[in-house]
This record gives sequence, C-alpha cells and structure tokens, in this order.
Amino acid sequence: LLTSDLAVIGGGAVGLAAAWKAREQGLEVDLIDPTPGKGASWAAAGMLAPVTEVHYGEEALLRLNLRSAERYPSFVAELESRTGKNVGYRKSGTVMVARDSDENEQLGELWRFQQRLGLPSERLSSRECRGLEPALAPSVRGGIFVESDHQVDNRSLVGALLEACRKAGVRFHTEGLREVNVRGNRLHGIVLENGDEVSCGSVLVAAGAASGSIPGLPPAMIPVRPVKGQLLHLHGPLGSDVASHTVRGLDVYAVPRGDGRLVVGATVEERGFDKHVTAGAVYTLLRDVYELLPGIIELELRETAVGLRPGTPDNAPLIGRAEIEGVMCATGHYRNGILLTPITAEAIAEIVTGGDEPEYIRAFSPLRFQSRSGALT
Ligand code: GLY
Repeated sequence: LLTSDLAVIGGGAVGLAAAWKAREQGLEVDLIDPTPGKGASWAAAGMLAPVTEVHYGEEALLRLNLRSAERYPSFVAELESRTGKNVGYRKSGTVMVARDSDENEQLGELWRFQQRLGLPSERLSSRECRGLEPALAPSVRGGIFVESDHQVDNRSLVGALLEACRKAGVRFHTEGLREVNVRGNRLHGIVLENGDEVSCGSVLVAAGAASGSIPGLPPAMIPVRPVKGQLLHLHGPLGSDVASHTVRGLDVYAVPRGDGRLVVGATVEERGFDKHVTAGAVYTLLRDVYELLPGIIELELRETAVGLRPGTPDNAPLIGRAEIEGVMCATGHYRNGILLTPITAEAIAEIVTGGDEPEYIRAFSPLRFQSRSGALT
C-alpha cells in the first residue's frame, strides 16, 4: 500500500502543472496516466488568446483567462529555469481577419464588444492587415490586431512540465487507473490497473475529456464530454514563414512557431471519443487557411493531429472541490486548457495545502450544475 497526499488522475498540461506546484509545496504526489502529455495538450495549438477568443456571455471566463495570461511570463520563467528547457513562449500577437465584407461587419461587432470590455484590441483596414502580414490574401477586407494574445509551444510546454515533475519527485504511474475508492461520501484511495492501492488524502481529476467517466465516481458528477478538434502541421524551410503573427479567420487559425512550422486548426465536432482524421476536415482546414494565406500551398503537410477537448455544459472549466470529500477537479477547460494551466495549478496548490478556494475560481466550482435537491440540472 502506497501512501500519498495527492493523486492526480491525468497528466496533461493541467494535471502536470498542478502536480508540480503541489509537490513544490512539499506534498507527496502521485500522477496516474498511461501516456502522460499525449492527449489534448499534445494536439493543441498553444494559442494564449483571451481577447481574440472572447465570447458573448462569458465575461467571468474572460476574467479567468486574462488572469492566467498574466501569469504566463512568470510561470514560463520558473519552468524554464527549473528544467533548462525552452517552451517557445512568444509574444508575437494575433491578427484576426475577414475574408469578405460580411465577415468584416462581424469583426466590427467583435471589436466593439472588446472595446466595451476595455480590452486592448485595434481595428485594422485591409491595408493595415497586409502591413502587419504581407502574405495575407489581397481579398482580406479588414481585421483586428491584439498584440497581447500570445502563444506557447504546447508540446515543449508539456515536455518541460514532465521534466519539472520528475525533478521535483512526483511519482508517475503508467499502469492506468482501475478505480477511485469512495466510502460513504468520502475518498478512501485509488486502485491502479495492476492492483496496487494508493491511500491518498486527495484526488485531483484532471483527465480532460475522460474526466466524466472515472471508474468509482458517480457518472454524472463531472459533466464533461469530448469535443473533437482536428489540426494540421504544415512546414516550410526555416526563415520562410508565411506569417509572423497568429492569423485567425472566423473559422480557422494558423499559428507560426518561428521555425518553419505552421499549426492550422481546428474543427469543433461532437463525435464522442472518435479520433479519426477525416478527409473532410483536412480539406476544410486547407481551404479556409488558403483563403487567408495562399502561400501555405507551398508548404509540406507534415502531420495531422486530433484532440478531444473537455467540454462542459457552459463551456467553462470545473476547478475546485467536488461533492465527494477529498475529490477535486481541474478539468473541463474546453478550448482554453493551455491558457488556463498556470492559474488552475495555482488554485489547486492553494486548496490542497489547506487554503480556502481562491475567490477567482468560485464561479467555476464543479458543484455549480447541481440543484439544491442534489440532482443535476
Ligand atoms: N483554442 C483553440 C481550439 O480549441 O481549437
């Protein structure tokens, strides 16, 4: 029987960062994942874009996204100094562009919404768009520039987090989870696939899209479903980048890594746990990105990627204590998992070391979908 202060179920960016932060606070931490770092965090594009991705009616989520974006420089600096690895954090800004006048009106609406919220965004004419990104299609009608929407290389980030966890002494279990052991309404421990038991003070569910079906936990307790996203990795020679900023249309985004790579995404599909790459998605992504950046036609199509975003009923994450004593959640981050990694890890480390739930995560309590009778609403 192993004993542990915290067992983290799921080794994506969020689970790894929470495990690392909790371990740095002196806790014994175990992390359970057969393939850490290879889920949605691996497939992601790494955009840190609270302003260009702002949605009507999601102002609370916007505040959390902004808070996490603010944390990024210091989070990255600490991670890089602990591990000696570069995670490709680039403050290169994001240009959002319209293909036609209809889309340009939509961008005008979005820009006014951003202005009402006091967000730093700049409205651009078509000429100004091409001034920023000379390879944009001549048909581009206008756009929005957000200098503060950055990017990180999500795969390097996850690699550095794995290294930071190992160095700090987080124990990894790649045999997978058999079940979480609950007695009454209280956590008792967990059982691994090989039969080993871990007696732990707390469990953190950070299993992304799989968080809704953790064996041993009530099926409706964590309302997360998979939302499929397909992406492409294009590649050109070093120094030949077709864009220097992240370029977004209304249906597609292209994130240049600065080393010839261009990550193009993404579909948003309700297809359960299906992870096939479809010809239709490759076609649509290439068609849509070509209409913005025709130069992509010259690039090598090096990789297709699929991720299952953890979606929730209100598109906002589940962070904090769940209804079973000892169980916490850090999941349901939907389209913002990479962005929300620093703030989620910080909040979980605070709770697991005995602090109160920080005020900034109260709106994201995993308990918010329960009515007073205890039934799910
Ligand atoms: N945040 C980008 C995506 O979910 O596709």
